[in-house]
Amino acid sequence: MNMGRTHYAGDVTDALVGQKVSVAGWVHRRRDHGGLVFVDLRDRTGIVQIVAQPGDVGFSTLDKVRAEFVLGVTGTVRMRPAGMVNTDLASGAVEIVPDDIVLYSESKTPPFNVSDAESVDELLRLKYRYLDLRRPELTANMMLRHRSIMAIREFFDQHGFLDIETPALARSTPEGARDFLVPSRIQPGEFYALPQSPQIFKQLLMVAGLDRYYQIAKVFRDEDLRADRQPEFTQIDVEMSFVDREMILELMEDMLKSLFRSVMDVELDPFPRMTWHDAMRLYGSDKPDLRAGPALTDLTAAAHGLSWVVLQDAPHVVGVRLSGAEPSRRELDQWTESARSLGAGGLVWIVNGTDGLRSSAAKWLGEDGMRGLSEGAGLEKGDTLLVVAGDGWKPFEIAGQLRLQYARQSGRLKTGWRFLWVTDFPLFEWSEEQGRLVSAHHPFTMPNPEDFDKLEADPASVRSEAYDVVLNGTELASGSLRIYRPDLQARIFAVLGLSPEEIQSKFGFLLDAFQYGAPPHGGIAFGLDRLVMLMAGADSIRDVIAFPKTAKGTDPLMDAPSPVDPLQLRDVHLEIRR
Ligand code: AMO
Repeated sequence: MNMGRTHYAGDVTDALVGQKVSVAGWVHRRRDHGGLVFVDLRDRTGIVQIVAQPGDVGFSTLDKVRAEFVLGVTGTVRMRPAGMVNTDLASGAVEIVPDDIVLYSESKTPPFNVSDAESVDELLRLKYRYLDLRRPELTANMMLRHRSIMAIREFFDQHGFLDIETPALARSTPEGARDFLVPSRIQPGEFYALPQSPQIFKQLLMVAGLDRYYQIAKVFRDEDLRADRQPEFTQIDVEMSFVDREMILELMEDMLKSLFRSVMDVELDPFPRMTWHDAMRLYGSDKPDLRAGPALTDLTAAAHGLSWVVLQDAPHVVGVRLSGAEPSRRELDQWTESARSLGAGGLVWIVNGTDGLRSSAAKWLGEDGMRGLSEGAGLEKGDTLLVVAGDGWKPFEIAGQLRLQYARQSGRLKTGWRFLWVTDFPLFEWSEEQGRLVSAHHPFTMPNPEDFDKLEADPASVRSEAYDVVLNGTELASGSLRIYRPDLQARIFAVLGLSPEEIQSKFGFLLDAFQYGAPPHGGIAFGLDRLVMLMAGADSIRDVIAFPKTAKGTDPLMDAPSPVDPLQLRDVHLEIRR
């Protein structure tokens, strides 16, 4: 058996013409052309063509191989004949004429073609994930993920961060999703919770004096899944002591810049900053996509001067400018439908068309009203204005969605790296479900010192020292400065209405630790899967995770979750009630 591979397929280029090489991999495709047999041999780096004709060494093997057979090929590299060059492949100008071929393995006919699997049902691809991962796109994603992790580790190492592992069998952490529970065998009736983040441990590491911590940590959240959510995912988790917000933001921005420089060969611009309040007002979202065209316009003042009560009396009137769009009547009806399905009472449109202004509400607005609103929104010839009215943030959020829909339809969202820091999130938010204030981030988030005196009197208006990194409309990271003084922490718990018993049972160990000298500290956590997804241009984080779960949280490959043996259940003191 010849195991001496000298080159990966993707490395066999015209620089090697005339040389002898050994490659190994899977049959991607096999073609027959008037006696000549061509085999595209695939490994994780690419594809190289092997060619033989009757009488050549290895012809009989190449002649019988089928897709996904595993071969080792030793042979001489030569240029392909003119006109046969494949410019899509690194090795597309050359081919290998074998003088030794080993057939390592045969393959059953695969359930789908690796060379043409994009349109195959995802469930089937996940069941045969090892075949799916052979697809050059997915292989490339795995390699990108690896290179990203290496670059990230190097950055943190160079900046004095320690890579410290924290437990996976722990207690419920305060991120607010549902926990995955693990029953204890030794402590009947008790459970570990898999961590939703290393949050508490990293803060304890700061109390321990370890000063700069990072970890590429697997975390677990039992929540409803979407394209950018998995029940287990990976965080780049960071915590630092003796820093202010500015130092954290700058260093993390540098981390992303160095990652993009080394892995993507992209020089990122400085990240703009926006307060949460401005993000909501200008984009109707706490994760604005800055690629998606002009910001929203607040038309409330302009609307209050109108004589039409519907807009005049509305607490907020928000405009979305669709630049360069003169939609048909049918399209305008569709915008109205979209706004309604997002929860708007209705939608007013104004088109600045070739023959002047027209509007769904022309009758009530009159020429002056249409002009007032369209000028207020900076409407130019050929633009269309969509107007949403309502209470609270709702009209901003609906308008923000319409803005995104238009950008998607008009193909604006394809390129660009628009990073953004969103800062000054509210400290608390109202939970309809629980009928009380809850922490918007987690209860250790530092309030903005300027708002300390409003904590009890007007908690809903208190800003926090929390920040997010947003990239192209996706939340990439969240973090904050933390509270490190027990008296301030006690005030926050009181506002949250937690009883002393609850506080002690949930966070007692952290508060105890803070009694023994806590340094000022803060940190952040990035969603690694989301980051790599965006870098790869993938639509779902499933495409950058080797073995992801389906939208129903299942793993079709191992068939997990699955029932367990009754003896195993007995060991952990559980009984299934159907
Ligand atoms: P947070 O809960 O915002 O913060 O999570 C940080 C980042 O993790 C990513 N993320 C997810 N990625 C994939 N699937 C999911 N289900 C999922 N949920 C979150 C997002 C998010 O921005 N302990 C704090 C951080 C801190 O304060 O330091 C935390 O976990 O990209």
